[in-house]
Amino acid sequence: MCGIIGYTGSDPAVPILLDGLKKLEYRGYDSAGIAVQTKDGLHMIKASGKVEHLAALAAQAPDLEGVCGIGHTRWATHGSPTDINAHPHMSADGRFAIVHNGIIENYLEIKKDLEEKGVVFASETDTEVIVQLLAYYYDGDVRKSLTRTIRRLEGSYALAVLCADVPGTVFAARMSSPLIVGVGAGENYFASDITALIRHTKDVIDLEDGETAEISPDSVVIYDRYGSRTEKAPRHILWDIAAAEKGGYDHFMMKEIMEQPQALQATIVPRIKGGQIVLDSVELDMTKFDRILITACGSAYHAGCVGRIVIESLCRIPVEAEVASEFRYRDAVINEKTLVIVISQSGETADTIAALKEGKNKGASTLAIVNVVGSTIAKLADQVIYTWAGPEIAVATTKGYVTQLAILDLFAVWAARKLGRLDDASYKKLVKGLKALPAQAQRALDLSAGVKRLAALYHDRQSIFFIGRNLDYALAMEGSLKLKEISYLHSEAYAAGELKHGTIALIEPGRLVVALCCCERLYEKTASNIQQVKARGATVLAVAQESKRQVYGEADHVLQVPDCHPLLFPVTEIIPLQLLAYYVALENGCDIDKPKNLAKSVTVE
Ligand code: F6R
Repeated sequence: MCGIIGYTGSDPAVPILLDGLKKLEYRGYDSAGIAVQTKDGLHMIKASGKVEHLAALAAQAPDLEGVCGIGHTRWATHGSPTDINAHPHMSADGRFAIVHNGIIENYLEIKKDLEEKGVVFASETDTEVIVQLLAYYYDGDVRKSLTRTIRRLEGSYALAVLCADVPGTVFAARMSSPLIVGVGAGENYFASDITALIRHTKDVIDLEDGETAEISPDSVVIYDRYGSRTEKAPRHILWDIAAAEKGGYDHFMMKEIMEQPQALQATIVPRIKGGQIVLDSVELDMTKFDRILITACGSAYHAGCVGRIVIESLCRIPVEAEVASEFRYRDAVINEKTLVIVISQSGETADTIAALKEGKNKGASTLAIVNVVGSTIAKLADQVIYTWAGPEIAVATTKGYVTQLAILDLFAVWAARKLGRLDDASYKKLVKGLKALPAQAQRALDLSAGVKRLAALYHDRQSIFFIGRNLDYALAMEGSLKLKEISYLHSEAYAAGELKHGTIALIEPGRLVVALCCCERLYEKTASNIQQVKARGATVLAVAQESKRQVYGEADHVLQVPDCHPLLFPVTEIIPLQLLAYYVALENGCDIDKPKNLAKSVTVE
């Protein structure tokens, strides 16, 4: 969840580190710090708060001159977000400084051991044991000390290390936490992800679990998990710096909402050739499976709930969707006749990785739907289908989520056809429906001004309910999550038919209920639920397809999205809900791209 960067070259390190940390801040933003090799040894500054605050401190720090350094932006796990607990951490002798992303599960045991040997700890973090171990094992050979140190560690880590005795070199190690090398000319980098480096280089090397590396201005040396030197060719990133910038928008979230038509185009269009869906990367004998299990976290799980309905409806195979943090510990009955589909924008979510491993261990075939190329999940799964959403920076996912929906739709239609369960006419209709989605998403974005006005009316509500049935219910969950996470309003998503079994007690005059009514065949049922909440004084905002004119007679406010294929409408229906969350958060003065307590890429349990 934290972001780390390392730099070695000939330019002043501080501006490069600070700029990289700003780009990485979406991974965690409760404290930040940098350490630099100077002519007088290692110097660091760190503080609670955002990178901006750190930058102000750095501007006044005279002793940070150097061309090699490391930096960190934190999402606290062990120890509150104080100045002392911020990274980098330094060994008691000042020889080593490290930044760390991940969790050291056995840190208490190591800490006790070192304390018994006289080492004095400064912070409450798990990370500090790493740097104290490095110093403890050091006998003049950093690589040897690093190897001995990581042998002691249980848990996850991406580490960047400076040693005062080796000027111009940054050392690194990776286990279950993302880390890449950026290869430049006369300068090299480490970073948690590409956004921090894209300004400097587009050539990156993905480090694998167990690998360690050393960079100096002119060399990149990588060692495999057995300590042998290994050669790895860089891959070239195709997207450019503009993709990682706000491009004139006030927030990444709005930029990414607006980018959804293009992201859908990039995800869908290349996969439809001559009227046929072609999933080049997928080799699956669909007849082998008697069950499909979709597992993921947060919004990706909500996408899975949509996928469950669409795949089951078209393929006529039982499909379940379950949050990964539950699935991984449930000892589920799955076997080689199960297809486990995991969904993850980042490809690094700890619970989703564990769920994927659980599926593999039990002999299931695994398919991952992932956005970040080369991520852990993409590498682990038997098969991968990439969403081509481009980099997603805002913590609240938008284009990541809609492209997950698009892939699930493509997969469902593709699989149903393979199974011989879709006749020509239905197949053609679905393919046509899929091709229409980018343009329909573009039209749904036209609702922006209307949603903004509604947000101004309702932003101060105590609690907002989202209701819907079937696919609309899956969308209600995502709409509600979006609202809570960025506006901090309390909100609940309810299956519309379930409301009357208790929760309707919370409906009172003035309560806003967002009723999702795009599911054509259940429209009348949801309309009855609208009546039930209106009879108790609720104000209803309905989202319906354009042809459903009668909705005006049911609801107080209506947002109409383009008519879509009856299985594909979620891609457009979510857009007004994303806009609602955005504008409510804006009205409430929230930090939209960096909501409190959250971070992008949840690499801890
Ligand atoms: C919500 C959100 C999260 C993620 C979840 C899974 O807006 O972004 O709920 O969907 O943390 O993340 P990935 O998709 O990276 O596995």
